[in-house]
Amino acid sequence: MSEENKKRDGFGSKLGIIAAAAGSAIGLGNIYRFPCELGDNGGAAFLLMYLVMVVLLGIPVMLSELVIGRRTQSNAVGAFKILAPKSGWPLVGYMGVLCGIIIFAFYTTVAGWTLEYIFKAVTNSFHGKDLATMQQDFADFHNLGWLNVILQAMFIFLTGYVVFRGVQNGIEKFSKILMPLLLGILVILGIRSATLPGAHEGLAFLFKPDFSKITGEVLIDALGQSFFSLSLGMGVLITYGSYVKKTDNLTSTAFSVIFADTLVAVLAGIVIFPAAFSFGIRPTAGMGLVFNTIPMIFNQMTGGYIFCIIFFALLAIAALTSTISLLEVVVAFLSEELHLNRKKATILTCVLTLIIGSFASLSLMENTPFAIGGKTVFDLMDAISSDILLPIGGLLIVIFVGWKFGKQKFFDEVTNEGTLKSSLTKIFFFIIRYLAPLAIAVVFISGLIKS
Ligand code: PHE
Repeated sequence: MSEENKKRDGFGSKLGIIAAAAGSAIGLGNIYRFPCELGDNGGAAFLLMYLVMVVLLGIPVMLSELVIGRRTQSNAVGAFKILAPKSGWPLVGYMGVLCGIIIFAFYTTVAGWTLEYIFKAVTNSFHGKDLATMQQDFADFHNLGWLNVILQAMFIFLTGYVVFRGVQNGIEKFSKILMPLLLGILVILGIRSATLPGAHEGLAFLFKPDFSKITGEVLIDALGQSFFSLSLGMGVLITYGSYVKKTDNLTSTAFSVIFADTLVAVLAGIVIFPAAFSFGIRPTAGMGLVFNTIPMIFNQMTGGYIFCIIFFALLAIAALTSTISLLEVVVAFLSEELHLNRKKATILTCVLTLIIGSFASLSLMENTPFAIGGKTVFDLMDAISSDILLPIGGLLIVIFVGWKFGKQKFFDEVTNEGTLKSSLTKIFFFIIRYLAPLAIAVVFISGLIKS
């Protein structure tokens, strides 16, 4: 066994796969992006479509990635090289690496804001502010473009430090305690939000579907959001799968991660919408929806000062465990395929990401030059990665497992060479082979035609 492989195994034995995969899944995608998408796409109808995507596609795609990773013990590109040498399949891995860099680049714009909001919370600067002032502060903050870039740089290099030092195990263990705490705070916030005057309108927006709102665009956004939130379609779970022990149960891992991720997203909806309606924040308010609504709720709560600090600190940590997974995909690729050492690979990726990502941050200023056809670079990077690259990646991954990898190997891997009994495995394979490719393709194409 080479030096490299020894290192992989050492990492693998210490990493709790559920903690790591859930850490990757739960993040700004749940608490920030999900409410924005839901608000933009008409509320409950989007929630319903989102849940359909998660249930129908989440488990099969996640299992497919884990299976590829654990089977090959390799990174997103290397895995395809091993399973399908001298073919075009490794391109799926390259696309994943590219997508990882793009997501890392714009994700850290928002992740940087969490640092600013921790600071604001500690200095009690939300106290007593009305909505108009809160919104103005948020806009002013974006206009300080370089401050956003500096915060983004801090977040990128924090991620780099963790990945380089290999301390992610520590962070994941830590977050096994912290994420339930985040869940706890979300429950408390949800109760406060749902009991504000006028909250019922927000609850109706979230839970009473208006089926006429389901358009091609809503479908494709729901598909993109489900992949984004579950970290699917770009090789995070191939890479993490490669660190998983042969005795771990992949199916129950996938179930647990998906359950936890969905719970956090729905809770975030229950926190945001009743309060937003109560305060008079439009559900289509985009970025401000979450970053203005949440401090407003804390302002209405006893102990709000402390809760607010804890909340934003936990949000930053949730974002960190997601950026770690994004960076890990790229670093695992660079170090194993291009034989860069991990330190060089990490620094290179972080610097490159910062350069690309600063365009995303600066594109949010008023009168920014970084917009194309009325869309900011931030929005473009978000849309290209989540609504195009992730679904295409997911589509190719299920086609690969269903048609090239094959049933026998899939069964061996999911049942740990026959030691686990899983009556669902047959159904999953059927979905992977026929249903998932069809569903992703149909949604994707109908979305493209209608939008
Ligand atoms: N799933 C993460 C979140 O919800 C974001 C992410 C997307 C991470 C894709 C890795 C890969 O915040």
